[in-house]
Amino acid sequence: LSPVVRRNATLSDTYSETVELADIDWDNLGFGFLPTDYMYVMRCPQGGNFSRGELQRFGNIELNPSAGVLNYGQGLFEGLKAYRKEDGNILLFRPEENASRMRLGAERMCMPSPTVEQFVDAIKATVLANKRWIPPAGKGSLYIRPLLMGSGAVLGLAPAPEYTFLIYVSPVGNYFKEGVAPINLIVEHELHRAAPGGTGGVKTIGNYAAVLKAQSAAKAKGYSDVLYLDCVHKRYLEEVSSCNIFVVKGNVISTPAIKGTILPGITRKSIIDTARSQGFQVEERLVTVDELLDADEVFCTGTAVVVSPVGSITYLGKRVAYADGGVGVVSQKLYSVLTRLQMGLTEDKMGWTVEL
Ligand code: COI
Repeated sequence: LSPVVRRNATLSDTYSETVELADIDWDNLGFGFLPTDYMYVMRCPQGGNFSRGELQRFGNIELNPSAGVLNYGQGLFEGLKAYRKEDGNILLFRPEENASRMRLGAERMCMPSPTVEQFVDAIKATVLANKRWIPPAGKGSLYIRPLLMGSGAVLGLAPAPEYTFLIYVSPVGNYFKEGVAPINLIVEHELHRAAPGGTGGVKTIGNYAAVLKAQSAAKAKGYSDVLYLDCVHKRYLEEVSSCNIFVVKGNVISTPAIKGTILPGITRKSIIDTARSQGFQVEERLVTVDELLDADEVFCTGTAVVVSPVGSITYLGKRVAYADGGVGVVSQKLYSVLTRLQMGLTEDKMGWTVEL
């Protein structure tokens, strides 16, 4: 594969030289899909293993209409980000965590999966091949989307005979249209995201299709997103459509414990460690919906949303506002500590970043 950005010297190279950064409006990135140069594809044939992946020009893929992923939803995805540092080097954030989570999910979904090493190597290759799409320092990040899918044909319900691991990337800014301003959530009390014994705790594609109905209804009413309750008691917080939730009361930060119905977020885990290192007491436990009433602050965490302060939550018609409609001090602090580390602005004492 020829390098995307060639340094030197001939006239024909001038274009490459001047497009060291892609020609897009870096000041107005949202979370929409922008195609980039390359994607990574690795296949696992029937009875075999994943091996010999390769970078390909980004484009449409061909799938048998009977592919397991299309018919029975046998698919997983991951999400992680690459940041461009001021010195031009690139930082990944905990990519081996995504690799391990994909492997756990694959086990639940009866799929073979790349090894941690294959996964991380593939991420690095894809990011470097698309380097010109990584936003300038401070303007956003390159969102990396690994997919694992049953690409072989099945008709009767069964695991697919063949699998495809694919990575594509897209430059992104803020996830919510509110930008860094607080988001407004509504608690959903009819529809549920996950059930005990189901797949809520893995990043299977179906978990995300399942929230679209409630999310669309909430957005139509002007809310940013939906907060789900457990489906048994309809009383305990689970997560928001695309992120985990934290409730702050004094020096104590509580978040729903991982118990099979909640996605074990890598940002969630990192924020728990970050908050503890900042002197907060963090509790992973059952958090009741009533606790939202007298919380000081609420915030969401996720790769895409990073740390998003919650301005208000509406539950059964009653609206509770936090931090006087502004960004709470705890949310601000944790956002700042985490993102400075992710962007390489502070020393990484946790060993979380991988420099390319
Ligand atoms: C992420 O935060 O990376 C996710 O996978 C959530 C997705 C709905 C954007």
